[in-house]
Amino acid sequence: MGKVDVLLGLQWGDEGKGKIVDVVTPGYDIVARFQGGPNAGHTLEFNGKKYVLHTIPSGIFRDGIINVIGNGVVIDPVIFQKEIKAIENEGIKAAERLKISSKSHLILPTHRLLDAASEAAKGSAKIGSTLKGIGPTYMDKTGRNGIRIGDIFEQGFKEKINFLVDKHKQMLDFHKFDYSELPALLETWFEAIEQLKTLPVINSEYQLNNWLSEGKNILAEGAQGSLLDIDFGTYPFVTSSSTMCAGACTGLGIAPSKIDEVIGIFKAYSTRVGSGPFPTELLDQTGENIRQVGREFGSTTGRPRRCGWLDLPALNYAIMINGVTKMMMMKADVLSGLDTLNVCTSYNVDGKSQPEIPYDMNVATIKPEYQNLKGWKQDLTQITSETDFPEELSSYIRFIEENTKVPVALVSLGPDRKQTVIR
Ligand code: GDP
Ligand code: IMO
Ligand code: MG
Repeated sequence: MGKVDVLLGLQWGDEGKGKIVDVVTPGYDIVARFQGGPNAGHTLEFNGKKYVLHTIPSGIFRDGIINVIGNGVVIDPVIFQKEIKAIENEGIKAAERLKISSKSHLILPTHRLLDAASEAAKGSAKIGSTLKGIGPTYMDKTGRNGIRIGDIFEQGFKEKINFLVDKHKQMLDFHKFDYSELPALLETWFEAIEQLKTLPVINSEYQLNNWLSEGKNILAEGAQGSLLDIDFGTYPFVTSSSTMCAGACTGLGIAPSKIDEVIGIFKAYSTRVGSGPFPTELLDQTGENIRQVGREFGSTTGRPRRCGWLDLPALNYAIMINGVTKMMMMKADVLSGLDTLNVCTSYNVDGKSQPEIPYDMNVATIKPEYQNLKGWKQDLTQITSETDFPEELSSYIRFIEENTKVPVALVSLGPDRKQTVIR
């Protein structure tokens, strides 16, 4: 019997999941995305080139690996088509390495317009969505109005789309939102659907479980991060899917008993893009330095990411709800040169110190309580072995391990595949 390892983000997304999936993929037979959609931007770097994936799993560049887009994912056929083209331009036959669940839901152009209309209506309370239509598509899914990939092969597909688009237009009218560009958007969208029809659409829950029976190993690739989870994130400033480990079960049709390792990815500091609470946010020059050195600008939208110190109450919460068995720490190289590194070890909520995060981080007055650790001066980007770590970096990792009770199995010291130290 094969096994499933789940790899997911423990913070607010952009932890470096794409890089790590690419690094560890050779140890698996299949990589499967289980939730989210083109709101994700997963960056990979190797041979001096950089690639950003939105819908396609990050195992796509490795020979002999099958990449599955699971039922929990939502797909924008236009974005998906562009991604496939970009990969094929590199001489990789993406279509031959991909399988798509017939049960994944389709993002329509009107879902994107509704996303924009909803954000505009919220004004300053907006979520800071990537505006890829994620929320409205999952709303139609749970509202039982959604359209799935399998439907594209059915008689009456066009009528089904038109019916839903008409409903969306009424909603856009309610918002007084201009949709004059819709006919052109729909034309492009239907063209992309024709291309989707040429790709292998399968009942992936059967296929994945058959592969497991044959002894094959699967890596489930998460998108976003635990603090953006629809249930456990900083609601309502979250995404619309289950970004946690349980999402791999519902998003792929894999039983919890098949899951082996739960690999949690985190940055040596914290970032967040979009609105919402961020207790350890740095609004000063240090935050700006981290943003510049870490090139903290959104992979999907280009927006500057908010930066701050590592937050252990939030990290421990993510470890708890996911049952994380090992962690991988990213981007420690970005912190080189800082004299002191602050790590938040507890929250002071309304004058009381606590290790837990409060029910509503939006309304609670949270003062992070910090432990100050000594920084390191060296450039870390050329280090290939733990024996060359500066003592301060080893202490930083030890401190995290002691305060989370989870081993840090890998340390990433640069965006390239090769800038990775396994411990
Ligand atoms: P993902 O969404 O979790 O896959 O992460 P993103 O790709 O959105 O953001 C991570 C960014 O950090 C990308 O630009 C990566 O190329 C880069 N990156 C990943 N690991 C490291 C690292 O260890 N050091 C540095 N400096 N950059 C890294
Ligand atoms: P990856 O997979 C970081 C954030 C958005 C916004 C909120 C809701 O690259 O880590 P949505 O588009 O889902 O309606 O946006 O979630 N967000 C992400 N932030 N990384 C991501 O994905 C994200 N996907 C969504 O910025 O605050
Ligand atoms: Mg990203």
